[in-house]
Amino acid sequence: MQNIYDNKEFFDDYINMRNKEINANNLIEKPIFQSLLPSFKDKKILDLGCGFGDLCKFAENDGARKVVGIDISKNMIDKAKKINYGEKISYLNLPMEKINEINEKFDFVLSSLAFHYVENFDKLIKNIKNLLVPNGYLIFSQEHPVATAFIPPKNKKIDSKIDIENKRYYLLSDYNNNGKRSIHWNIDGVVKYHRNFTAIINTLSENNFIIEKLVESYADEEAIKLEPKYKYQNDRPYFLFIKAKLA
Ligand SMILES: C[S@@+](CC[C@H](N)C(=O)[O-])C[C@H]1O[C@@H](n2cnc3c(N)ncnc32)[C@H](O)[C@@H]1O
Repeated sequence: MQNIYDNKEFFDDYINMRNKEINANNLIEKPIFQSLLPSFKDKKILDLGCGFGDLCKFAENDGARKVVGIDISKNMIDKAKKINYGEKISYLNLPMEKINEINEKFDFVLSSLAFHYVENFDKLIKNIKNLLVPNGYLIFSQEHPVATAFIPPKNKKIDSKIDIENKRYYLLSDYNNNGKRSIHWNIDGVVKYHRNFTAIINTLSENNFIIEKLVESYADEEAIKLEPKYKYQNDRPYFLFIKAKLA
């Protein structure tokens, strides 16, 4: 399991990106994620890969009774404790792979853009199931499978996208080869895991989750006005969102 957010160079670049008002988190990911959330009044929430705690704070502000945020990165947990502390919130420096150590049940398990860092999706989903009350919800976003699939050829640099007449064409390869991807994002060697829709959807349904809603990211007119390149979401979405209920 890689803890890339505790690499100083990576973390500084990531925080710089998140500190800008115009970024894909603020303009695309957060609004769609929040549109999937019901009221948290008096509910217990677990946020997996909580980062610096924006979603935990959102849940507390929305009336949650208790919020637990966990993250593998100490940098992230330290920052969350500083900027998103709250009476109802506790932060734990714990990898998602170890949530079986948590001994309580939650109404909602949330996770924003972190599941693609986890190798064993089936084990993760089984552990989440054990942490949810009957009819509890798992709501998560991750990088979209069409964005995680590509593996560049060895020893040859190629551009995986080209712009022609206001449109972006992307190379797609290895879509059905699920598994590890080592990519350059801020730094070399960032490890993510690609899973096709078959793997994602069937793992959820085999573990008794009913999918209530699935959203593939899009940019609204306002977002495109602020950052024109987000129009390319129509050519290939960045993110996938799933709202699933435990049967
Ligand atoms: C792209 S950030 C998203 C942070 C936050 N959810 C948000 O949306 O602002 C991904 C987060 O997942 C965390 N993460 C990655 N692998 C993890 C793992 N195995 N267990 C727990 N957290 C992990 C990272 O440390 C990082 O904070």
